[in-house]
Amino acid sequence: MVYFFEIARKYSEIIKERGGGGITMDKVQLDFANCMEEKVGKEGIKKEELEKLNSLIKEAHQNIQKKKQDNILGFMQLPYQKSEVQRIKAFADEYRTKFDNFVVIGIGGSALGNIALQTALNHPFYNLLSAGERKGNSRIFVLDNVDPLFTGGLLDVLDLDKTLFNIISKSGNTAEGLANFFILKKALQDKIGDKCGRHIVVTTDKEKGFLRDKEGKGALDSFVIPRNVGGRFSVLSPVGLVSAAFSGIDIELLLSGAEEMDNICNEAEIWKNPAYMYAAIQFLMYRKGKKINVMMPYAHNLKDIADWFRQLWAESLGKKLNNKGEVVNVGPTPVKALGVTDQHSQLQLYMEGPLDKTITFLSVNKFDLQMEIPEFYDHYLKGHTLEELLKSEEKATSLALTQNNRPNLSLVLPQINAHTVGQLIYLLEMATVCMGELFDIDALNQPGVELGKELTYALMGKAGYEKRKEELEQKEAAEGKNIYII
Ligand code: PA5
Repeated sequence: MVYFFEIARKYSEIIKERGGGGITMDKVQLDFANCMEEKVGKEGIKKEELEKLNSLIKEAHQNIQKKKQDNILGFMQLPYQKSEVQRIKAFADEYRTKFDNFVVIGIGGSALGNIALQTALNHPFYNLLSAGERKGNSRIFVLDNVDPLFTGGLLDVLDLDKTLFNIISKSGNTAEGLANFFILKKALQDKIGDKCGRHIVVTTDKEKGFLRDKEGKGALDSFVIPRNVGGRFSVLSPVGLVSAAFSGIDIELLLSGAEEMDNICNEAEIWKNPAYMYAAIQFLMYRKGKKINVMMPYAHNLKDIADWFRQLWAESLGKKLNNKGEVVNVGPTPVKALGVTDQHSQLQLYMEGPLDKTITFLSVNKFDLQMEIPEFYDHYLKGHTLEELLKSEEKATSLALTQNNRPNLSLVLPQINAHTVGQLIYLLEMATVCMGELFDIDALNQPGVELGKELTYALMGKAGYEKRKEELEQKEAAEGKNIYII
């Protein structure tokens, strides 16, 4: 027990040091050799195919630049929001030691980025550390689903007197976030009465929406989600930055990484721009029938980056219509996996199943903690480190996939820190936008989720949806008993 406690302490120190000097500021790189024909035969891409796509990429670049100038791609401005960052830092500095718990309430783009940042940049068991080990920073919880056991379970473990709730919703109207918020607010009111607004922070649109209207004024403070920043592109806005700052993540370093990647991604030339190259490869693979993109980090800290990316890729690129209004039903399917865990779960399928996938490894050059495997029974593992084992398995998986003509590529982080994670996030956002251009679709909308929302409103009795409800009831009555239920 003492041994693990020592390791946890050591790890906390390392995390602290990450914010200061001594961290690697090197660039995230894309290694795509194992996607090329030389390595994986006819399953791979020819260099000429990439050259041929270069003109389409240049066109995509021009469209992206035009949209940036027209203020459509607001996420591209987020690395430069210096005054907002100072405000967030000051707010967190004032309150993080006063609140033991910081609870994010939101869903989709208003939750996944927060989770990804916490997992990537904090101790793997951060919430279990003592206040001292957390340097007085708040514990972080994210409530996204509306499962009663989940919400009720969270209430069980929170001391409401010492909890700050951050309700996040760009539209300010999303049912899931509001439902959880109302439940938590009621519990808070019951416990501390009228002062409950002092425990609430609102992150939403500057002027519009139910949340701004009803909660904006009474809250401890509020933050703005810029109108031109889409939910799934908002992790580097106050959406993700406030909870990050409350847990001690260096948000300036995070944005400096994004800024560095923005400079790199300013390049129209595919061979110099890792985001465009990533999009180009995925696009060519899609055309070859490899429509599934598995993201497989070989770093436990990065597992929720794969989850965040899954939403970014799926909601942005899965579309019925192209920009000309033609029915295209396009979209690559993102899958998340984790090295080495999924070598014992998914890898068999990736090695021998249908030739319909590319594997994107998230690879880390240098881990912060070295753990040597002690000697027992003269076992071959003795004297090696866990990092060696992890990296050997990563290399072996990549080699084996390549040998089996299964295209794979790596996004390589020199080290996991706020700067490199900022780069990675921005690179993947730019790659998504570029993919949208290549598919000639609108990567910023999500019309496909509207029908489900409307039917939910009808079922929940929202005013204005009475006709829908009636239609639903009539349809169910006409269909009669469902014979396909046994
Ligand atoms: O990316 C998106 O736009 C969505 O996933 C939204 O983030 C999600 O639906 C939540 O919406 P809101 O922030 O308006 O509550």
